Amino acid sequence: MVRLERVSKRFGEHLAVDQVSFELAQGSFLTILGPSGSGKTTVLRMIAGFIAPDAGSIAIRGQPVTDQPPYARAIGMVFQKLALFPHLSAFENVAYPLRRRGWPRSEIAERVEGYLALVRLAGLGQRPIQALSGGQQQRVAIARALVFEPDLLLLDEPLAALDRKLREDMQLEFRRIQQELGVTTINVTHDQREALVMSDRVIVMDHGRIRQDAAPAAAYGAPADRFVAGFIGVTNFLPATLVALEADGQAFVRLGGQVFKARGAGLGLPPGAPVTVAIRAERLRFDLPAQPDQPAFDALVQEVIFEGDRLVYRLQVPGLAEAAGDTGQVGPSVLAFDYARDRQAPRQPGAQVRLAWRREDMMIFPPDA
Ligand SMILES: Nc1ncnc2c1ncn2[C@@H]1O[C@H](COP(=O)(O)OP(=O)(O)OP(=O)(O)O)[C@@H](O)[C@H]1O
Ligand SMILES: [Mg+2]
Repeated sequence: MVRLERVSKRFGEHLAVDQVSFELAQGSFLTILGPSGSGKTTVLRMIAGFIAPDAGSIAIRGQPVTDQPPYARAIGMVFQKLALFPHLSAFENVAYPLRRRGWPRSEIAERVEGYLALVRLAGLGQRPIQALSGGQQQRVAIARALVFEPDLLLLDEPLAALDRKLREDMQLEFRRIQQELGVTTINVTHDQREALVMSDRVIVMDHGRIRQDAAPAAAYGAPADRFVAGFIGVTNFLPATLVALEADGQAFVRLGGQVFKARGAGLGLPPGAPVTVAIRAERLRFDLPAQPDQPAFDALVQEVIFEGDRLVYRLQVPGLAEAAGDTGQVGPSVLAFDYARDRQAPRQPGAQVRLAWRREDMMIFPPDA
């Protein structure tokens, strides 16, 4: 459905998109995830044909994008700036793509009402755009993009302006609509939850480049590099030294005074090299049974934050003070999430705890990848 081959775009001196390549099969849902300024919107605008790449090629349904002006393509779009007609009603905004395509009046009404209902705006069709809230306007834009049932949908942060509850409902709703219509979708966001919830596939971008292209579970469970590990989820990074790398991808690292086994696939560094180890906050556990070979370190509770579904602990690890270059000997801070808080009372600041993790939950990356 969509193919990008080594697409680059420069704005003056700034390389906004750097050799981006991917292919998207019909009917799938891709999310491009990345921090502000990473080039997400630029990629989408090039696919839409609003701007041309400096290098590389883009094809939609096997046709080069450059051959057709944007309006000639059957692409539904919702962009960061909504571009609704402010003086028209919600109904007329949604009806616009159908009128332009010459639909008969009688069919337009039914179709538009159906899509207004889909985005939960039934009954609000006659309101002028200015008399709708930001979130309602956002949903008008979504209905307008879907109403002519395009086979490609480009979304640039369409849910960003919604409140959290509505945004999370709409993520599921969007996924449902997308599967129902079978519309190939490229969604752009910096919201990791949205990327994981909505997509078949996630491309993580940083500084114009693709850092990982994977299924949501793989992007989360096996991040390609330190950037991805830090961008998706909450991850603790600690400085360590590589002791040995085994043929099966297992690695041994020295962290403080201890040697731990960890996942080091594809590391390609010699023994003695400085590395960064990473453990996700929800994988640091207070309650793993003490076994002789259970990786763990002693920590001191600094702070406990109640977040409703979980407790967030900030802890110090004095045993790692030296490794972290901390001459005050208090050790680096780590974050640990506790979702099992009904099983025991929260530890108070000052409490000594044993923080354990499963071997496979420790990842290793080059020090500054
Ligand atoms: N028309 C333009 N002229 C000059 N620079 C631009 C232009 N459009 C984008 N850029 C620059 O290119 C880079 C990528 O911009 P882009 O809008 O693609 O980022 P983004 O990932 O969508 O960010 P955000 O999450 O903030 O929307 C940024 O550094 C931006 O300043
Ligand atoms: Mg953007």
